[in-house]
Amino acid sequence: MPIYLLHLASTHADFHIPELETLAKIESISYRWVKPSCIEESSELQENSIGDYPREKPVYPINHANATTLNPFLLVELDDDASASKWVRRSIFCKNIYELYGFADTFESLHDYLSKLPSPPWLQYQKDTSYKFTFETFGTRRTMEEQLSIINDFGYMKLEGLVSMKRPECIFTLLENRSKDIEGPKLYFGRWCGGSSRDAVDKFDLKRRNYIGITSFDAELSLITAQMAMAMPGKLIYDPFVGTGSFLYTCSYFGAFTMGSDIDGRQMRGKGGKSIRSNFTQYQLAGSFLDVFTGDVTNCPLRENFLLDAIVCDPPYGVRAGAKKIAKSSSGSSTPNQLNSNSTSHYPKLEQYQISDMVFDLICFAAKHLADYGRLVLWLPTITEEYSVEDIPRHPCLSLIYNSVQPFTHWSRRLLTFERLPRSETQNVSLEFLEKASKAPSHHDFRRKYFMGAHRTT
Ligand SMILES: C[S@@+](CC[C@H](N)C(=O)[O-])C[C@H]1O[C@@H](n2cnc3c(N)ncnc32)[C@H](O)[C@@H]1O
Repeated sequence: MPIYLLHLASTHADFHIPELETLAKIESISYRWVKPSCIEESSELQENSIGDYPREKPVYPINHANATTLNPFLLVELDDDASASKWVRRSIFCKNIYELYGFADTFESLHDYLSKLPSPPWLQYQKDTSYKFTFETFGTRRTMEEQLSIINDFGYMKLEGLVSMKRPECIFTLLENRSKDIEGPKLYFGRWCGGSSRDAVDKFDLKRRNYIGITSFDAELSLITAQMAMAMPGKLIYDPFVGTGSFLYTCSYFGAFTMGSDIDGRQMRGKGGKSIRSNFTQYQLAGSFLDVFTGDVTNCPLRENFLLDAIVCDPPYGVRAGAKKIAKSSSGSSTPNQLNSNSTSHYPKLEQYQISDMVFDLICFAAKHLADYGRLVLWLPTITEEYSVEDIPRHPCLSLIYNSVQPFTHWSRRLLTFERLPRSETQNVSLEFLEKASKAPSHHDFRRKYFMGAHRTT
């Protein structure tokens, strides 16, 4: 099987493999990670494919094991070019994929290796194929003169086709890595096989969005949220803490029908003609937007058997948006707000709500409303020093499949992806059942800890 080189973005390393694995599942791609230093020793490599993709813990390729070491290159075995381009076409963190012809630490050894290949992989492009050479450099720059001189050194490829800068049939690329922070080979050489959807990060940039609020979520991470939710045509995705709608746009961008709700209708409605709906019009995605409604996730009006393909959310941490829920009277009905008790409208009274309680309620909600194999994709804030894996809420109907971290100073934000186990396997489990941790999780009382930490660091 040919070996391909993935060139990834240098941001959010911990999200790269979860994204690629999810995309392989969406596109039904079989793949096998390769470690550069042991291409021959394939028995040591960890295998992974759609059939046996991991449930509890993602398999990280060796050069990606430490997520804080940003290594933007990954090698992988794939069936063919078609699988390669299909795999990354909707990726956010992959920039490009190449068929790998060779890698080395010096130009001399690269040329030595390539020029002695018994059946060079470029033979089929030697005669009549138009082509061009491109360069990708990291931690260095090459002048035009240097680039030309490097290209001339590939003369042994004996390419006879026309050079076309605008529409070449074949693009040969040299990736040169001189960054001290990036381990692995210094030079990779290959043939470009496909690009990704990384330009969507620019499309959804908050600076260009018609309507935003203080809770609007970063574009790149909203896209990855949609990716982890496996948003695609025919899917129905719901955000129960929709705010200004950041996740709805990106889920609809990948083709899903989207809907949302929020306890506070003002965020959703916006002002002066600017709202979630006007953003959908701006992005030309109005056809995928179902609607939003005002509602408390703990009293959600969705009928019991209403099933969703995914739930995406960024619950309130109490920093920018507070967590609230409808207060219940002793009889269990909602208590009217005193100010409005004489009016014909019923405005229920709200009470404060701990994020740790909210996460438990949310996870029970997901167990009830997710279709089999549907995903709950949830952002959870944690205090870095206090975090332990036991803080992650568990439910017997949901399997945690990814836990990726975005670190800040004293706190972090984790993107948790759960998958609903099929109902045939969870028939005897109570939907309200929860494995509560013995100690309070690090996200308990998050607001107070967040501001305490902010004082400590200033
Ligand atoms: C962090 S914000 C979500 C922001 C959103 N992702 C966006 O793009 O703007 C959390 C939202 O949850 C809402 N909220 C708080 N308690 C809620 C509850 N019990 N049910 C539903 N929404 C709630 C808040 O009004 C706030 O808009």
